[in-house]
Amino acid sequence: MSEASPQPPRDQWGSRIGVILAVAGSAVGLGNFLRFPGQAAQNGGGAFMIPYFVALLVLGIPLCWAEWTMGRYGGRLGFNSAPGVYSAIWRNRFAKYFGAIAVLIPLVIYMYYVVIEAWCLGYALSYLSGSLMKGSDPAAYEEFFGNFVGAGEHGALLQPGNRSFLWLLGATFLLNFVLIYRGVNKGIETFCRFAMPLMVICALCVLVRVLTLGTPDPSKPDQSVIGGLGFMWNPDFQALSNPQTWLAASGQIFFSLSVGFGIIVNYASYLREDDDVVLSGLSASSMNEFFEVCLGGLITLPAAFIFLGTAVAGFGTFGLGFNALPNVFAAMPGGQFFGFLWFFMLFLAAVTSSVSMLQPAIAFFEEGLGLKRHASASILGLIAAIGAGFIVYFSKGLVALDTFDFWVGTGLIYLLAMIQAVMYGWIFGIDRGEEEAHRGAHIRIPRFVQFMLKYVTPLYLAVIFVAFCWQNVPDYAATISQDTVALGSILFILVLLVFLLVLVHIAGRRWAAEGRIRHVGQYGLLLPVEDDE
Ligand code: ALA
Repeated sequence: MSEASPQPPRDQWGSRIGVILAVAGSAVGLGNFLRFPGQAAQNGGGAFMIPYFVALLVLGIPLCWAEWTMGRYGGRLGFNSAPGVYSAIWRNRFAKYFGAIAVLIPLVIYMYYVVIEAWCLGYALSYLSGSLMKGSDPAAYEEFFGNFVGAGEHGALLQPGNRSFLWLLGATFLLNFVLIYRGVNKGIETFCRFAMPLMVICALCVLVRVLTLGTPDPSKPDQSVIGGLGFMWNPDFQALSNPQTWLAASGQIFFSLSVGFGIIVNYASYLREDDDVVLSGLSASSMNEFFEVCLGGLITLPAAFIFLGTAVAGFGTFGLGFNALPNVFAAMPGGQFFGFLWFFMLFLAAVTSSVSMLQPAIAFFEEGLGLKRHASASILGLIAAIGAGFIVYFSKGLVALDTFDFWVGTGLIYLLAMIQAVMYGWIFGIDRGEEEAHRGAHIRIPRFVQFMLKYVTPLYLAVIFVAFCWQNVPDYAATISQDTVALGSILFILVLLVFLLVLVHIAGRRWAAEGRIRHVGQYGLLLPVEDDE
């Protein structure tokens, strides 16, 4: 035990339902409504649900519990940021540097996610004004989207007469930063308590509309509601023999649950010592699955199929969301209203996710560098604006956005998930983890889950990570050698990582000077001062 008392967490959740809604809000996002249907359709339809549920049970939910448990434990010792929480878990001087990855991932994802969020806002407003009701010509929607996101050339959105998107992006940024500035309770929790039910209402309205469309064009009897559901869900079991299907399913689970993002560890650190983590973690994950499978899975692709037929298979995530669906809304009765509801709902879903991507960095700047909220929010705002500006400027073919998403939104997430699985299973230890998780828990985690976390999850993750690198890195290396924007995007991420590593180093020295962690033994172990052993 030490001489100094632990620092109290700076911020705390107001209520149990509030924290569940905030974590679910972080999870429910564009991934549920746009990414999931596209992934399922491209990877075996209904058969995709087999690797999807395997990944949910072996990776998603166990890792979610591990992150909730480690986060609350770190919070109990006075740490809210991943570098601090990891130092509390793994009492080694290097642990905090892994925390830099957990700050980097959500921050980089925010940089492109907020841009897509602003697209959703722009589309919602375009429905309000009626400017997106362009009849049944698919090329009109493609052209609108291309101009709207500046896909034609780099810098297109900064040219005079074409800058209105910057206002949308500015407004979206402002909303995110107001929420972050107000803190986890008054900002994030309050917003999620209002936004999550509103999202359910909007999504249910659109779902009812889609499921009652019948067969809009009697000359194409296959393009019916049943046909659309069949197109999305009829299993193609051959896809199961393709490793890509398994990779895609695991990637979807991580992206969708926000596991391996560094977010849950941070959110859980604001819990009180005896707040339940087991039922809350399960509830937030279940809520996410409801949004993904029951709403995302029944609306996006079936609706697109009813009007566009099998052509929707080749649309990809953005094509489906921003080209196919506007085409669909133009063709359905009440389409302008439902188009607005849909994109407004996507915007809300994106905001509840994007604020959660900023909080880990805010927590780190305040805890690691001793900054006050206005300073931490300003510095973070500047970094995030540079990143989003990079995405907006290098808009041709959306190469910068795709590169950030590929390396960070897919690759680094696997890596961080693996680090956290090892940290929980092998360093914190499953016996200690089980005891910690059940402090104040309303339900019990079956014992075998702890063994799974120790042996199966890291192994499964390692296989996935190697397969991911094997399948993608050679192709990507070839792309980079020919594409300077892709290369520049990777360099941008690396520079940011180095910057964060330096800040983490400075934070470590501050914590040691403050006596919050201390060096012991010849190997220079670091211990949180309030040690529970
Ligand atoms: N989990 C968030 C989403 O699905 C990032 O969009």
